[in-house]
Amino acid sequence: MTIPTDIQLQASNLRDIINRFNHLYYVTDNPEVTDSEYDRLFKQLQQLEAHYPELLTADSPTQRVGGKALDKFSQITHALPMLSLDNVFDADDLHAFDQRVRDRLNTTNIQTYAAEPKLDGLAISIRYEQGILVQAATRGDGTVGEDVTENVRTIQSVPLKLTGDNVPDVVEIRGEIVMPKAGFEALNKQQIADNKKPFVNPRNAAAGSLRQLDSKITARRPLAMYCYGVGEIQGIDLPKTHHETMQQLAQWGCQISTELQQVTGVDGCLSYIKQLGEQRNALSYDIDGVVLKIDDISLQQRLGFVSRAPRWAIAYKFPAQQEMTIVDDIEIQVGRTGALTPVARLQPVFVGGVTVSNATLHNQDEIDRKDVRVGDTVIVRRAGDVIPEVVQVVLSKRPDNTVKFTIPTQCPICQSEVERVEGEAIARCSGGLYCPAQRKEAIKHFASRKAMDIDGLGDKLVEVLVDEGLINDPADLFQLTTDQLSALERMGEKSAANLVASLEAAKQTKFARFLFALGIREVGEATARSLASHFLTLDALEVADEQALIEIEDVGPIVAHHVVTFFHQSHNREVIERLLKVGIVWPEELKRTSDSELSGKTIVLTGTLEQLSRSEAKEKLLALGAKVAGSVSKNTDYVVAGRDAGSKLNKAETLGVTVVDETTLINWLN
Ligand code: IVH
Repeated sequence: MTIPTDIQLQASNLRDIINRFNHLYYVTDNPEVTDSEYDRLFKQLQQLEAHYPELLTADSPTQRVGGKALDKFSQITHALPMLSLDNVFDADDLHAFDQRVRDRLNTTNIQTYAAEPKLDGLAISIRYEQGILVQAATRGDGTVGEDVTENVRTIQSVPLKLTGDNVPDVVEIRGEIVMPKAGFEALNKQQIADNKKPFVNPRNAAAGSLRQLDSKITARRPLAMYCYGVGEIQGIDLPKTHHETMQQLAQWGCQISTELQQVTGVDGCLSYIKQLGEQRNALSYDIDGVVLKIDDISLQQRLGFVSRAPRWAIAYKFPAQQEMTIVDDIEIQVGRTGALTPVARLQPVFVGGVTVSNATLHNQDEIDRKDVRVGDTVIVRRAGDVIPEVVQVVLSKRPDNTVKFTIPTQCPICQSEVERVEGEAIARCSGGLYCPAQRKEAIKHFASRKAMDIDGLGDKLVEVLVDEGLINDPADLFQLTTDQLSALERMGEKSAANLVASLEAAKQTKFARFLFALGIREVGEATARSLASHFLTLDALEVADEQALIEIEDVGPIVAHHVVTFFHQSHNREVIERLLKVGIVWPEELKRTSDSELSGKTIVLTGTLEQLSRSEAKEKLLALGAKVAGSVSKNTDYVVAGRDAGSKLNKAETLGVTVVDETTLINWLN
């Protein structure tokens, strides 16, 4: 069938437009059309091609979705071999390299270098004939690689057709295929969700994705390509410098690194290396160093090669972010909320620029997934300031007689029961205040402003008191004497007396505050208030079962479980008993009358109140069953406007919400 010329033209226009939009989106990061407009054009082209299959061309963007799966990759001999690079690791080695270059060129001139990131991916060579992508091959042994054309076609930042002027008859464009960090994280999340093994790092993920026999799989993987050189070229002369050659590639629509720079001499190289090293973690892809190339192509040609590496380029390697070491032990750390974290004690290893001897194993699920055992050889990764992580066990190096690791069922610090709520990854010690590991944090919480509000008892002092053995739990606080306190370093008699006085004052509290202060898991201020106003007395709450708790507004099965477990532990009950014995009291909780005018109303406080503080007003409103919100919406019932009320008042007026003054508020509260 002959295809009408206008149809041919339409298809060719669509291909060019879509390819241009692709380039704008994936290479320049500067989309010019909406997704829906793009999809519309794409569909139009697909329909044309379905109707006239002869229209299909190799550069059609519809071909990026992947095609028929292969049995195996065929081999391709590179027109020009793909070289590797020699490495240097410090400034001295770099100086020596530069000296060798200048000796060979018989010059004392300071050299201009093209400096660029050393991307941590896989080398690729892509052949374009008359501007059309015809073949893509992996590096292989440098001479013969594998034909991965179908896979490379699916990578959006690889042009299917070169654009612009000066397109050569034949060109082999070389570069690195990488998986950007964000794409890698997302892919691994998906792998775990699908119960598949996550990839160890972006490079492995890129390699695994590129070497799929089914290009439809590759098409779904977030790969990108950055170009860094040219192999065979026919039909045109390339520019005279590497730097300009890269600009030419960019004009043809290829993606080049935005970090590319021309620098002068070794000093220029070193400051570039320093700068890129600092940026390393912020880059969107992994790099493992800097590549420095003599910029002048004629000098490159004079320098030539030695074995498989050019004499005109060198890789300055950054410290590895991944190394192998041995797990000497697995210990359990108990955090402030009782969370049990397994930590691998490692034989010290230099990774990511520091010596690492511990790595978190996160939780039991992670241990099960990686099956990390004492005695295992593992790969440890530390990228930037991220906490070192065990990414994989090297199974081939596993010694005999290792055993699976399981988090203990009793807290290693206080022997309390360890619990793990269904659906949660973290196991926790149920010891609460009784567990020394949790003690300091629990006491700090107990004393904090929104809990028992003990004036003058800061975090530092809590630590000192525990370290000195003066207190073990919150009840001990109330037995402290002025003598004991003033004997502490940097504690005068006056401050000691003040603290004892504020401890005395803090004994008068509210039931809700007391409940919140106990630090029951998942029981925040609001839940504590709900529990207090529902149960009215501690006795009633202590005997409530999960069913009774779930019936309360805002209390779900997890909170209910934590509350029951807490009161179930005898040591928690003992501490409570002692707290009551030392004189902690609260006024009897009054049952909220559901006919209270404010019950269920949403109120926003704004501006400065004269007769009571914002938090006092809030507490009283809550006690009357009102909800106190932070911002005004159409669901707000009243806005209480104090002095100098600003934007919230304006918003209330715009939305037609009733605004009242402080006097009205006081009337309500009385
Ligand atoms: S140039 C003739 N430039 O590093 C020199 N290579 O260790 C050929 N690589 O196989 C390589 N980023 O896969 C060059 N900006 C860069 C690079 C780079 C990463 C890789 C490349 C090569 C390996 C050599």
